[in-house]
Amino acid sequence: MIIIKSPAELDAMREANRVVARVLAEVVAAVKPGATTAQLDAMAEEMCRAMGAVPGFKGYHGYPYSLCCSPNEQVVHGFPSDDPLQEGDILSMDFGAVLEGFNGDAATTVAVGQISDEASRLMQATEAALVAGIEHCRPGRRLGDLSAAVQKVAEGAGFSVVRQFVGHGIGRDLHEEPQVPNFGSPGRGVELKPGMVLAIEPMVNAGGAEVEILADGWTAVTADGKLSAHFEHTVAVTDDGPRILSLP
Ligand code: MF3
Ligand code: CO
Repeated sequence: MIIIKSPAELDAMREANRVVARVLAEVVAAVKPGATTAQLDAMAEEMCRAMGAVPGFKGYHGYPYSLCCSPNEQVVHGFPSDDPLQEGDILSMDFGAVLEGFNGDAATTVAVGQISDEASRLMQATEAALVAGIEHCRPGRRLGDLSAAVQKVAEGAGFSVVRQFVGHGIGRDLHEEPQVPNFGSPGRGVELKPGMVLAIEPMVNAGGAEVEILADGWTAVTADGKLSAHFEHTVAVTDDGPRILSLP
């Protein structure tokens, strides 16, 4: 069952997602060669709590940290570490927060110093795929319209879309119905209605779509070791069109 949110609930979700966006902006600004992702995780948790919210991922199905940090060939759910970031890395960061019982969820991928042209194109295509998906968050569109739009942009740039992980409905639970795949067919799937809230999160690989999970049980990496990027926004379907909740 897809849970429809009232206008007041959407405003509450906006506040939870505002926390997420502000935390992400702060950790993005701290990314540089020599910084560690463990430092970024500590910053994120502290800032989140200072804003009166609770980190949404820590303890979720046993995930041990607040900020998912997934450099280079890591796709999602990477663990923060004490290894310093290096010039040329790309780093995906995913953050969730709970405020007044509602979840926020967003992710971004950033460059560490100067990066390769391919890495830069991968990041741009992944963010453009997210934007293309968001555009379909309108009453009367179908989920397949959104999924197909994401896929078209990512594959049109010569990259591949991860299938093993998908976006999701979001609200009082981090993961609600429906699943939001980053691949699909126009005209298929459920019809979008005002008050639906979707976390749209394309994961796009420079090489093949296949991913593997490391021995820690969480970290997803590309099977071929090539780069991966991840961008995510929490977006409400409204009569006025898409409302991106996870902006600062
Ligand atoms: N944005 C991711 C998701 O929706 C982050 C979840 S990390 C987890 O699945 F640790 F909470 F699972
Ligand atoms: Co998510």
